[in-house]
Amino acid sequence: MPATNLPPPPAPPAKPAAPKVDAAAARNVPPGPTGRPMPVIPEPPTLDHHGPARVVSMCNQKGGVGKTTTTINLGAALAEYGRKVLLVDFDPQGSLSVGLGMNPHQMDLTIYNLLMQRDVTLHDVVVPSGIEGMDLLPSNIDLSAAEVQLVHEVAREQTLQRVLAPALPHYDVVLIDCQPSLGLLTVNALTASDGVIVPLECEYFALRGVALLKNTIDKVSERLNPRLEIDGVLGTMFDGRTLHGREVMARLVEAWGDTVFHTVIRRTVKFSDSTVAGEPITTYASSSSGAVAYRQLAKEVVARWSAE
Ligand SMILES: Nc1ncnc2c1ncn2[C@@H]1O[C@H](COP(=O)(O)OP(=O)(O)OP(=O)(O)O)[C@@H](O)[C@H]1O
Ligand SMILES: [Mg+2]
Repeated sequence: MPATNLPPPPAPPAKPAAPKVDAAAARNVPPGPTGRPMPVIPEPPTLDHHGPARVVSMCNQKGGVGKTTTTINLGAALAEYGRKVLLVDFDPQGSLSVGLGMNPHQMDLTIYNLLMQRDVTLHDVVVPSGIEGMDLLPSNIDLSAAEVQLVHEVAREQTLQRVLAPALPHYDVVLIDCQPSLGLLTVNALTASDGVIVPLECEYFALRGVALLKNTIDKVSERLNPRLEIDGVLGTMFDGRTLHGREVMARLVEAWGDTVFHTVIRRTVKFSDSTVAGEPITTYASSSSGAVAYRQLAKEVVARWSAE
């Protein structure tokens, strides 16, 4: 076929590199919970300065898969490793804010005001999270109105990116907790992000709907934000004692390959207990397996980010 004058199509984006597998360890240690050899994940290096932040969305349109739990606990674990972290509650349910002990009815200003009112600044809305090094942009039901109101704005998909820009020099990581939908708020989160983490509950229907999510991520990266990449897929609520749990994990790895984090989050009631207590599991039950897992995830994401 004769060539056209168009440039050749771009190569497909490379998959995020997995942390390097220590060959000796791979030979000697049994496979990790994902069925692959568990690499040695290095400790995050100490930082001598802060910023600019990497912005990461926690995204899956399926409800109850661990987006909010991962935002709180990954954020708290990164803060333990000396990272300055900003959490963005971008869900009108406000679960992230509640999970950090805030009362949704006693918030003067929320992310809604920051998005919709030109005279409200980041300083007016950001609050300490109760964890050293970690701040929060809270949200409540007011945010549900933004989805409708933003439709009439110019550059409606870039609104969150615009209001977050002044924060980036002051933090190392910004984690955005998305609502369970692929609507305009989620598109705003993806447009503002460098990376996406997809939490997936390790149960039979977990992979349903993932193609639609991938499609949305691809569209945002083609049309609005070419920086966007998938940082990783995180298996949550894993029960490795059951054959079912192990089979679902095998399917996850089959579908997503090395995009799946080696770290998995097991099912434990400690997570609901810590939500009731209004704090991350890393402080509520500091030595529990859930806290240890989120610290390991923090190490794994830092290793992936520095490999990019
Ligand atoms: N690893 C886990 N083991 C047991 N329970 C968990 C685990 N992770 C999260 N949970 C619980 O499951 C419920 C849903 O989790 P979470 O709120 O993090 O999901 P979500 O994806 O943010 O939900 P939504 O889509 O409604 O925002 C919560 O009650 C939480 O405490
Ligand atoms: Mg949530």
